[in-house]
Amino acid sequence: MSDTKKFETLAIRTQADRSQHREHSVPIYMTSSFVFDDAEQARALFADEYAGNIYTRFSNPNSTEFIDKMCLLEGAEDGFATASGMSAVFSSMAPFLQSGDHIIVCKSVFGSSLQITTQLFPKWGIEYSFADINQPETWEQLFKPKTKMFMAETPSNPSLDLIDLEKLSQLCKQHGVLLNIDNCFATPYLQQPIAWGADIVTHSATKFIDGQGRAIGGVILGSKALIEKVRFFCRHTGPAMSPFNAWILSKSLETLAVRMDRHTSNALTLAEYLERHPEVESVKYPFLNSHPQVSLAKKQMKAGGGIVTFLVKGGVDRGRRFLNATEMASHTANLGDSRTIVTHPASTTHSKLTDEDRESVGILPGLIRVSVGLEHIDDIIHEIALALEKSK
Ligand SMILES: Cc1ncc(COP(=O)(O)O)c(C=O)c1O
Repeated sequence: MSDTKKFETLAIRTQADRSQHREHSVPIYMTSSFVFDDAEQARALFADEYAGNIYTRFSNPNSTEFIDKMCLLEGAEDGFATASGMSAVFSSMAPFLQSGDHIIVCKSVFGSSLQITTQLFPKWGIEYSFADINQPETWEQLFKPKTKMFMAETPSNPSLDLIDLEKLSQLCKQHGVLLNIDNCFATPYLQQPIAWGADIVTHSATKFIDGQGRAIGGVILGSKALIEKVRFFCRHTGPAMSPFNAWILSKSLETLAVRMDRHTSNALTLAEYLERHPEVESVKYPFLNSHPQVSLAKKQMKAGGGIVTFLVKGGVDRGRRFLNATEMASHTANLGDSRTIVTHPASTTHSKLTDEDRESVGILPGLIRVSVGLEHIDDIIHEIALALEKSK
């Protein structure tokens, strides 16, 4: 399919080749391996003389379709689909690192990405430095001769701070360091890091890409040369996405644009409502005029995304009471679902951090994160208003 087509069309019309059965919707290729026509074909495929399926750990028509779409949507040359967002994060880093290397990781990246950085890589002799998302002027001094990669997320979770992708990629290029962006919160519909100079884009497809809380998955995207290394690593370590999940996630991409439009319009309306609410101390949303980086958000994002955070008056106890007072909203460890999800990071996902560490990544005691769903906005506002009232 021509890549001059628009996002929505590419997400719908990029499809695996039709089989002899002339199906309209792509079948699920639930097979571990593929049959060779003859010994010569087997030899040539193993010798990489041409591309073709051999074994689902290496490739499969469903994962190839999902990857092809993601490449077109993110503006990448190539990609590899993995069983989860975390296997994508790990496989987007490990192939480029060896003992003695150094990486810079934004301190506000997802918790398991921090665990890889601080608990696993050091065992293999890979050192790290943390970058503070709110102090970009200090990043230059973190680069060392052995620095190989800068890993970051924008917008960050849950503090919704932004990184200037253009400036950071210039800095990385000056130092010959790969820039790896986890684009899970924005999705390619709202932000395309490669267009701003990122080398690798990583996703947890479990979130907005699936969009309905059904399937775990991840993907790594970049240039042909970089993905060649990722493919070698994944082929031999085995984090491949299952054909069934690839089928679900590729189908989900068909509706990504319309879903993100509604997620973002619901989120902006909720954020504006919360800004006026007397029980709310402050609200954060990238496209609110009160967001300190609103002009950067409007420069590099098409819209503000589906996540809103706010500080409810009354600290940790009020935060917990707020959650208990919700009726419709789901209280679950996920985001990016068609159903609105509320979480209280200080007493759950980030409860093991010290107060100081929590504060350094923007998690104050009364912080509530709302993954704004696709229900009618009047019902979402009613739900949040009711929980604010009942939790007083
Ligand atoms: C930004 C980000 N990256 C990576 C992950 C990990 O993804 P998965 O749960 O699909 O392994 C998550 C999960 O919440 C996430 O929010």
